[in-house]
Amino acid sequence: MLGFARPAMQHKVAAQLISAASLRSLHSSSPSRTMSSMVEGYSPLRLLLIGSPGSGKGTQSARIQENFEVETISSGDLLRKNIMQGTEIGKIAAMEMQNGALVSDKVMVKLIDMELNKIGSEQSWLLDGFPRTMSQAVTLDNTLQAVNQPLNLVIHLNVPEEVILQRIMDRWVHIPSGRVYNMTYNPPKQAGLDDVTGEPLERRLDDNPETFKIRLQKHHELTEPLLDYYRHRGILISLSGNTSDEIYPQIRELLQSRFRPEEVPVTEAPVAEAQI
Ligand code: AP5
Ligand code: MG
Repeated sequence: MLGFARPAMQHKVAAQLISAASLRSLHSSSPSRTMSSMVEGYSPLRLLLIGSPGSGKGTQSARIQENFEVETISSGDLLRKNIMQGTEIGKIAAMEMQNGALVSDKVMVKLIDMELNKIGSEQSWLLDGFPRTMSQAVTLDNTLQAVNQPLNLVIHLNVPEEVILQRIMDRWVHIPSGRVYNMTYNPPKQAGLDDVTGEPLERRLDDNPETFKIRLQKHHELTEPLLDYYRHRGILISLSGNTSDEIYPQIRELLQSRFRPEEVPVTEAPVAEAQI
């Protein structure tokens, strides 16, 4: 599905950062949109989650998946699965990831391409961790435009850096599923084991202070241009909060207002008052 990137397109759409509130009001004055899986004829959700390492992209993806009918694709989870299975992609990715460097655009495009191709055009989906470079962003856009399924929302998780290093140091993951735990915030029911499969949890190789510093630097360097790109397209929403519990209700409200049917007043025939 994805092809290789052409030089960055110039977007002439007026620069505009839409707040969650203004987007809600924009949509409340237009026909309600919802996920196609719920109401026929509406565009499915095509959402990107962007945020620093440890900002809660994986945590929020899991909640969105649980509460909305959305397929989730996490680039980091896919890479870790490939490493675990010893695939060619896994072998290429292992070294970069361990050092906090980025895996090449070529590999990433191939990986995400395979996953997107498994999803039906009417299915809502979200991407966590892809795109990460302008080249990846432009490639994704060109491909989605070509099949007339453009992105319709980009959510930037804006979490203060002071809180995220500790989260990372406390993180345990179930590599095959990508489920994440935190020893104080959302510990597993049984220490060291995944809640669903009972399989052992692991630490990520890149979850140490040195590698985290590099990942954070990379994130700063690459994310600003990406945010500008989507801001200019008018599809960027930045949500701030110290914890995922503060941010998730904002995401839920946003998705409900845009992709779920509005509550329609029931118009049944008036019920006669009970005769006493
Ligand atoms: P990736 O796996 O995407 O890592 P990341 O972006 O660094 O983000 P994280 O997964 O670390 O954090 P998150 O935002 O998902 O936070 P989480 O929900 O787990 O990428 C890893 C590597 O793969 C990259 O460095 C790169 O090498 C490569 N890569 C990936 N995509 C690529 C691409 N497109 N191009 C090139 N290379 C690519 O939360 C963190 C922790 O906090 C968890 O333990 C969670 O339980 C906990 N937590 C969440 N909320 C709270 C809370 N409220 N309070 C306390 N703890 C909380
Ligand atoms: Mg993650």
